[in-house]
Amino acid sequence: DTEAEMYRPNFHFTPKVGWMNDPNGMFYYNGYYHLYYQHYPDGNKWGPMHWGHAISTDMVAWKEQPIALYPDEKGYIFSGSAVVDLENTSGFGIGGKVPIIAMFTYHNTDIKKAKGIDVESQAIAYSLDEGLTWTKYSGNPVIENPGIRNFRDPKVSWNKEQKKWIMVLAANDKVMFYGSKDLKSWELLSDFGGDWDRELGTHGGVWECPDLFPIPVEGSEETKWVLLVSINPGGPNGGSATQYFIGDFDGTKFIMDTEFEAVLNKGQNHWLDFGKDNYAGVSFSNVTSKDGGKFYMGWMSNWEYANKVPTETWRSAMTVAREIKMFKDDKSYRLASHPVDEIDAYKVGKYKKENIQVDGETALIKVEKVDLSRAAINFTISELKKDSFTFKLSNKVGDELSFGYDGTNNTYFLDRSKSGKTGFSTTFSNKRSTAERISSSKQLTGTLLLDKTSIELFYDDGSTVMTEIFFPNAPFETLSVASVSQDFILDNLEVNQLNRH
Ligand code: FRU
Repeated sequence: DTEAEMYRPNFHFTPKVGWMNDPNGMFYYNGYYHLYYQHYPDGNKWGPMHWGHAISTDMVAWKEQPIALYPDEKGYIFSGSAVVDLENTSGFGIGGKVPIIAMFTYHNTDIKKAKGIDVESQAIAYSLDEGLTWTKYSGNPVIENPGIRNFRDPKVSWNKEQKKWIMVLAANDKVMFYGSKDLKSWELLSDFGGDWDRELGTHGGVWECPDLFPIPVEGSEETKWVLLVSINPGGPNGGSATQYFIGDFDGTKFIMDTEFEAVLNKGQNHWLDFGKDNYAGVSFSNVTSKDGGKFYMGWMSNWEYANKVPTETWRSAMTVAREIKMFKDDKSYRLASHPVDEIDAYKVGKYKKENIQVDGETALIKVEKVDLSRAAINFTISELKKDSFTFKLSNKVGDELSFGYDGTNNTYFLDRSKSGKTGFSTTFSNKRSTAERISSSKQLTGTLLLDKTSIELFYDDGSTVMTEIFFPNAPFETLSVASVSQDFILDNLEVNQLNRH
């Protein structure tokens, strides 16, 4: 089937057939990473939600598995999480087996049609074969709807200090924290949000898919807590996006860090990714990187047009798996994200160039050297000038994708208005996406991952990130860069093709 394969990514996960949205229940156990996802296997638009499933040994190459959870009389299976219950706190682990517990939202369409409020409730399921097959708990729901219309997306984690499970879920324009000793009976602890009098875009839409986790602050002994909250609409470039808050969690309450709050109050950004296509991402449980970073994946689309993108057999891909870290600059704590190191094992055919004098438009690389629909590109500019530069991907039918830096406004940008098929939605490319540069370093670094239908840009060690999708009429074949007024020097360029082994 040519259509399915023309746009099917080389190294991003897509379901073989049918619709996909949020990543769900990601965990690591016994050599395997697991990814579940919002899935409608019988159609290419959002529909009755199942949990699809895929496994991987490296978070890069995924193998689709049979569907993990089917909708039932209690409702569709909405987003949620999974944990490895190492100490069998739930009691589901008979015969010495370690149970995996999934917590998800039931979304009841009968109640919705009857205009009831109590549409959404929380439920659990367990697996005794390391995540392959699941049994729904007979006592579901474990948390009834308390009279809140949007009440969903539970993310569970083990709290070491308190020796209990903590769960965070989204409730209209806030999140609510719950605690449990056994994953079955849950107690409300506190909430966060809702009462904003700030201009943070937080009122633009409903809060969805929260996550709460601690991470060490790079280069210090300190650990801080991160609260991720997706919001739709209200993203920095329109539609869906994921914001973050940094603070402390005392086992009951999330308390925002005062410096971080000051940065927020100044209207400075707090977005994990500024591109239009990274939504509903959360972290993997039961694993951290060697420096304590969290592994993360997001859904590479946007509710503005997800149901209309020009693929038929399947719809939507996940972002590449990323490692989230925390650093502190002169103003506050910040998050940075990078592609996971495991992607390096896919690099072949390294192509390097140094000291490239850019004067007008300068060709950098052609498809004969590196297939630009499966490439990792790193570059460094040692002396950033108050000028602008534009990278451009192009093909022989005249499509163009451009991205770069605007020195006048100190922003990165991404423009897909001429990137091929764009007419399926009025908001897909009506304006270019921008992201204020966070770093104030003279040196600018970039890592970009190119697939057939996506670009992921990690600038300044991942402190500013942009992810977007595109649908060219033919594969992109050349990459060039242009300076806007003055010449500049691209000090280092390294291009690697990413091949499956
Ligand atoms: C986010 C979301 C979740 C919900 C799921 C339904 O994209 O709206 O809040 O659980 O998708 O598919």
